Amino acid sequence: MATGVAGGMLAEGVRHLAKGQMPTMSGILLTPSNAERITKELARLRGAAMKVGQLMSMDAGDLIPPALSEMMARLRSDANAMPMSQLVTVLDKAWGNNWSDKFERFTFTPAAAASIGQVHRARTREGIDLAIKVQYPGVRESIDSDVDNVVTLLRISGLLPSSIEIDSLIAEAKMQLHAEADYQSEQNWLTRYSDILGNQSDFILPVPHAELTNSKVLAMTWVEGVPIESLALAPQQLRDRVAAKLFELALKELFDFQVIQSDPNFANYRFNHDEQKIVLLDFGATRAMPDSMVEGYRKLMRAGLDKDQIKMREAATDIGYFGAEMSPQQIDAVMDLFEMACEPLCHQGAYDFAGSNLPKRMHDVGMTLALDRNYWHSPPVDALFLHRKLAGMYLLAARLKAGVDVRAIANRYLSEDEYL
Ligand SMILES: Nc1ncnc2c1ncn2[C@@H]1O[C@H](COP(=O)(O)OP(=O)(O)O)[C@@H](O)[C@H]1O
Ligand SMILES: [Mg+2]
Repeated sequence: MATGVAGGMLAEGVRHLAKGQMPTMSGILLTPSNAERITKELARLRGAAMKVGQLMSMDAGDLIPPALSEMMARLRSDANAMPMSQLVTVLDKAWGNNWSDKFERFTFTPAAAASIGQVHRARTREGIDLAIKVQYPGVRESIDSDVDNVVTLLRISGLLPSSIEIDSLIAEAKMQLHAEADYQSEQNWLTRYSDILGNQSDFILPVPHAELTNSKVLAMTWVEGVPIESLALAPQQLRDRVAAKLFELALKELFDFQVIQSDPNFANYRFNHDEQKIVLLDFGATRAMPDSMVEGYRKLMRAGLDKDQIKMREAATDIGYFGAEMSPQQIDAVMDLFEMACEPLCHQGAYDFAGSNLPKRMHDVGMTLALDRNYWHSPPVDALFLHRKLAGMYLLAARLKAGVDVRAIANRYLSEDEYL
């Protein structure tokens, strides 16, 4: 794989030289044939590539050059479905050979792609509609080498600058993929999250179907819904309500539940028009937040709300944002980023996410920081998950062109008398 791309780049470089031009790394890289080659290789390593991409985009700003984000976006939509015979083999192994007796109907064409598998719709003899997530065979066994291969590919193609040190990110990607490849554990999180959420009128979650679930096949009730982004065309009032509910849920996850569904990919949220409820899916990346983090963020957000810069800096230090090697300028840059992130919190009344351009502005500052060769201090991984979650909510609110009174919602979770 690596030599294929490197060979392609070499040939391209020679072509440039022949024309009397000095080849540049990025010039070589972005030729259509190389982009094609890289995309193909990444598709083969789809699950690992999506995870590495996900982790890179949640760190200080977006480290991924636009060419790579495009490839990643394509990966998400272009999954190769398992051939029917392979699917049947996986299901025979999970459920025994006579499994079709259990179903009134089983749709072999996948209803949706998952990152390391595919989702089928089926109806049991009892008439229960199920979503069945089936993992690609062999995925679990090759996680470590797949991640290594993705990183090698990104490095050798110049898509990932060699100055960037991502050992901890690589280790994290492997760890997470191993966790997410255990569908039994995902089912346990789904059960636990539903319990914590309790009887909630605003959300619908799938109900796990334990007897048909194991580490490679996850069965749960099928939940009707349309993509959450499709609400962009709904009345303003509905968009505002949905965004507000999701912000509130994110803060509840952090401050009340201390359990965060850390993958705010839009595809994990849908909307059920009949019941007027938000559908929550995908609990594979759910994690518990340690007390110290929760307290750190309570202090940080409280200080942000009060515009108290000294307390904010203290809280950020407690959480672990600043490495000993960081210069005062870099610390200031991080603090600027926090202040920007707190903008909706400090705003009186509904904050207009679409008009604010906030995700773009944060991206730009984060990018400048990330491109500073001397700055490479990764905050604790729990902090990264929280960034990802909150950034996901900002992006979703912006996409829905929603106005949300974030300050009023946050006040409920940060009020002095309740917590001090
Ligand atoms: N219970 C369900 N009901 C309806 N659709 C579902 C259900 N579970 C998953 N899906 C569909 O399958 C897609 C992928 O499932 P998901 O659990 O998010 O996989 P992954 O963990 O790989 O992201 C979802 O975005 C959704 O479209
Ligand atoms: Mg998902």
